[in-house]
Amino acid sequence: MTNYKELGLVNSRELFAKAIKGGYAIPAFNFNNMEQLQAIVSACVETKSPVILQVSSGARKYANQTLLRYMAQGAVEYAKELGLNIPIVLHLDHGDTFELCKSCIEYGFSSVMIDGSHHDYNKNVELTAQVVEYAHKFDVTVEGELGVLAGIEDDVKAEQHTYTQPEEVEDFVKKTGVDSLAISIGTSHGAFKFKPGQKPEIRLDILSEIEQRIPGFPIVLHGASSVPQDIVAEINQYGGKLKDSIGIPEDQLRAAAKSAVCKINIDSDGRLAMTAGVRKVFIEHPEEFDPRKYLGPARDKLKQLYMHKVTNVLGSDNKA
Ligand code: G3H
Ligand code: 13P
Ligand code: ZN
Repeated sequence: MTNYKELGLVNSRELFAKAIKGGYAIPAFNFNNMEQLQAIVSACVETKSPVILQVSSGARKYANQTLLRYMAQGAVEYAKELGLNIPIVLHLDHGDTFELCKSCIEYGFSSVMIDGSHHDYNKNVELTAQVVEYAHKFDVTVEGELGVLAGIEDDVKAEQHTYTQPEEVEDFVKKTGVDSLAISIGTSHGAFKFKPGQKPEIRLDILSEIEQRIPGFPIVLHGASSVPQDIVAEINQYGGKLKDSIGIPEDQLRAAAKSAVCKINIDSDGRLAMTAGVRKVFIEHPEEFDPRKYLGPARDKLKQLYMHKVTNVLGSDNKA
């Protein structure tokens, strides 16, 4: 058992309390490899932002659980070396079983998500409460989810979301003891959220009703990538074949971050930025075969994207 405190990590409790008071959200950026981690840490040190390093079960399998533990510890030390000891959380994204959450806690995660949103309400409560009971023994924070986000299918429509029902949140939070709650109010996962011409809309009215029922309680938004059109165009300019799609408008995310939303998850936009960076080098320098020569520029592009998100969307700059 490695406790996250030995690695220099923090849980999300204090970060969320400050974010709610301050009207901003903590960035939760997914990572799978060293270059993504370097981009996240250097962007957040430069903007002086706290950060949540987010790992899906697929990422954990890809990177290896033991390596991840040292990578997270390395992230803490790297931030210090860059000049600022920013608060860093290591968080399991979309944990689907008690066993996975337990294993992550044993490998040094400071926060876990148990996503029981696909189960019926009572099963979701039961599973989430079981994870909370275990996690809290180690001062690890837990995120639960109520409501189902639309999938990543090509023809996703806003009507396919199962929005969180505000009348359920108080009971869920009370019965599970969860530390934060992911809700479904119109965001969706992946790079193909809406077709051009559709009007994505975060339901700030549902958010505000939820906020009234559980005042001051930390709310999380998944599926918050905006699918930057210039990056999609760049990918296609350099040989990619991505279909047209739009994401969640950044001004709507900014508005959500100013209220009870205190954690915003972004993965797909980072994938797009890295892909654009790699493709550009491959097309402009087909003779290149040194991974540093294509992963390096991709990493720089990713860092710029994260700095933009922190400063212009989350508002978490200068909060570390
Ligand atoms: O919401 C899911 C995240 O974007 C992680 O995706 O399971 O492909 O690593 P992944
Ligand atoms: P995006 O696919 O919109 O980046 O969402 C990521 C996410 O919610 C990770 O849990
Ligand atoms: Zn998610």
